[in-house]
Amino acid sequence: MTKTINFRIEDGVAIIGIDVPGQSMNVITADFTSELEQSIDKVLADDAIIGAVICSEKPAFMAGADLRMLGGLSAMAKTATPGEVFQNSVRLNRILRKMETGGKDAKELQRSKTKPFIAAINGVALGGGFEIPLACHHRIAADDGSVKLGLPEVMVGLLPGGGGTQRLPRLIGIQAALQFLSTGKNMTGKEGVGFGIIKELVARDQLVEKAKELVKANPKAIQPWDEKGFKYPGGGGAMHPGSVQTFMAANAMARDKTYGNYPAVQYILSSVYEGSIVPMDMAIEIESKYFTRLIVEGQAGNMIRTLFVNKTAAEKGARRPQGFDKMPTKKLGMLGAGLMGAGIAYVSAAAGIEVVLVDRDQAAADRGKDYSVKIVEKAVQRRKMTKEDGDALLARITATDDYSKLAHADLVIEAVFEDRALKADVTKRALAVTGDDIIFASNTSTLPISGLAEASTQPQNFIGIHFFSPVEKMPLVEIITGKKTGDEAIAKALDYVQQIKKTPIVVNDSRGFYTSRSFGTYVMEGYAMVAEGINPALIENAGKMLGMPVGPLAVGDEVAIDLSYKIMNQTKKDLGADYQASPGDVVVDTFVEKLERFGRKNGKGMYVYPEDGSKKYLWPGIADHFPRAAEQPTVDEVKTRLLYRQIVECARCFAEGVLTTPEDGDLGAIFGWGFAPWTGGPFSHMDFIGLPAFVAEADRLADRYGERFSVPDQLRAMAKKGASYYPASSAVAAE
Ligand code: NAI
Repeated sequence: MTKTINFRIEDGVAIIGIDVPGQSMNVITADFTSELEQSIDKVLADDAIIGAVICSEKPAFMAGADLRMLGGLSAMAKTATPGEVFQNSVRLNRILRKMETGGKDAKELQRSKTKPFIAAINGVALGGGFEIPLACHHRIAADDGSVKLGLPEVMVGLLPGGGGTQRLPRLIGIQAALQFLSTGKNMTGKEGVGFGIIKELVARDQLVEKAKELVKANPKAIQPWDEKGFKYPGGGGAMHPGSVQTFMAANAMARDKTYGNYPAVQYILSSVYEGSIVPMDMAIEIESKYFTRLIVEGQAGNMIRTLFVNKTAAEKGARRPQGFDKMPTKKLGMLGAGLMGAGIAYVSAAAGIEVVLVDRDQAAADRGKDYSVKIVEKAVQRRKMTKEDGDALLARITATDDYSKLAHADLVIEAVFEDRALKADVTKRALAVTGDDIIFASNTSTLPISGLAEASTQPQNFIGIHFFSPVEKMPLVEIITGKKTGDEAIAKALDYVQQIKKTPIVVNDSRGFYTSRSFGTYVMEGYAMVAEGINPALIENAGKMLGMPVGPLAVGDEVAIDLSYKIMNQTKKDLGADYQASPGDVVVDTFVEKLERFGRKNGKGMYVYPEDGSKKYLWPGIADHFPRAAEQPTVDEVKTRLLYRQIVECARCFAEGVLTTPEDGDLGAIFGWGFAPWTGGPFSHMDFIGLPAFVAEADRLADRYGERFSVPDQLRAMAKKGASYYPASSAVAAE
């Protein structure tokens, strides 16, 4: 067992100094939990110790559970019984309960009380790192603005399993607590004082001494909820009118926000509610029961794996080829100062990179730089950036129409019009200045990289770096390797993405690559349903209920229907007889050719965008062109179609080698086009429901609606032999 606690005794007070090795931030590990229990036992057993201070020996207090440990728990859930998972989950809860009661039963505790445990919080205290202080008899915190308190578990599909759903409501009232529990939001140390959670803010270097004084001044402690006649602040219990109303509203709001896709929210509400009508000993068992359910049901494990473990691994360079020293970009040549080029210039300059922003004339280049000027002005106004930092950022961007300024650039990205000949021309002009041994990247959204690479004499240095709009907001970057792209180009591209703090995936060349190709199916399935006469409101609501950020018709309008039309026709031309028509094509044709409804950009698409800026609404005229079917499908059927159509395309990308790992597939889907995050991504979802079940349902859809739902042979074969995309043993892969 590695040592995680520095235990010592000062003036009769035990100091439980948390210092988990190998981590910059303390996290709860199995070793820590065991050592915490030993420390508590020592304090309780030794008559010479009057109480304890729990503090951190690192610059912050504690970040909560080690996500890899939670991953282990979800892996365990695959083989262990729910009872075993429960025993594991309830462990910390019982240890903390022992700490606050001294191991005494209710009567004995009320009579003789117990030794005080005081938390001295010196910074971030989140999740389990906040639940430990909540179980202490008092809490004090540093007064320097570094303190952040919160229970963010809900954000990874979990609930606080160390008593947080019970102690926070008992401390600050049900309504206030639910706001933190159901959103995962933080509070500052000052807010903690306001809520009565933190007794006092003191200077950081005085924390432990102050906490020791508190122990000495209060040698007999009992939690308010263990006192006879305890009442919840603001009322609690099943029949209290205030709390009944709170629960009614909270349930309705949770349903409105999550459509039932995130059971954690529901279980948090249930845990708080059920826990509020029983004594604390039973309340924590109820919490652990719901925590166990979340682990056993498995969804939380999928979310943690993709949203945290794999995201972090990708950002740290999981896909970076070995054998190359770090190649940070110092000077970026940015060709094209339009929507994308301007955004890429901004994020690069913000990362400290010198940028030469080139467009065909000075005015166009200046317009591109203006994009950064506007962002900086706003940030300075809102005090998110100092004037000096803003000026320095802008000084790093040189807007010009002069290609010779690209000299000494060590990376060039082109984002000129989507036109092969133009792209070839600017590639040659830039490489003539920089020399063609530098890495050259295209931000094309549709043109195959292998073809564009022909413009360079060194195609091994040519790569796709595909951004999403708006660049400064979208977290994902899709790196595309052409047939001849070399490892050095991949390493350089990944180093650059790390510099600008985005999440990379690496995919192979293909029409629409991975993200645009798979995302497009969501929109096209929406159009297919319009063609069938399905009520557009039903389609849109089903998309949102599925957990997509917006309905397929709304997002189609944002992207622009005429752009889909252009891409569709280009694809038809390029593929000839191989083109797989979708029943949605006719909708695109009609909207562009006949109706000239292009989407938001010309104020009319599937929606109407009133000129006065009032709320958009579905265009009633849709039914004139695609008459409403007499019989409408169920919402579940519409949801299934929208979900399966996307996932089948993702599976095809995997089968065709466009994707080489399920991790890329899941990250790309959630962070690239907002694929329902509760699933952990399309590959996690297929594994979760089981490949045989997935294939059977896709077959049903293919029979009913067409070939576009048919799964690739690879997936069918995997289903037959009981395989899965992720190794079965790693519900959460280690970093
Ligand atoms: P845009 O039309 O806003 O910008 C293109 C820019 O290229 C214009 O400023 C134009 O003046 C400039 N340009 C044209 N000829 C040039 C030359 N000879 N030298 C230098 N600059 C020249 O287009 P946008 O949207 O920025 O797209 C650019 C590229 O990024 C395209 O390949 C597009 O497919 C791709 N892309 C676009 C996304 C989007 O959401 N708009 C998303 C991802 C990729």
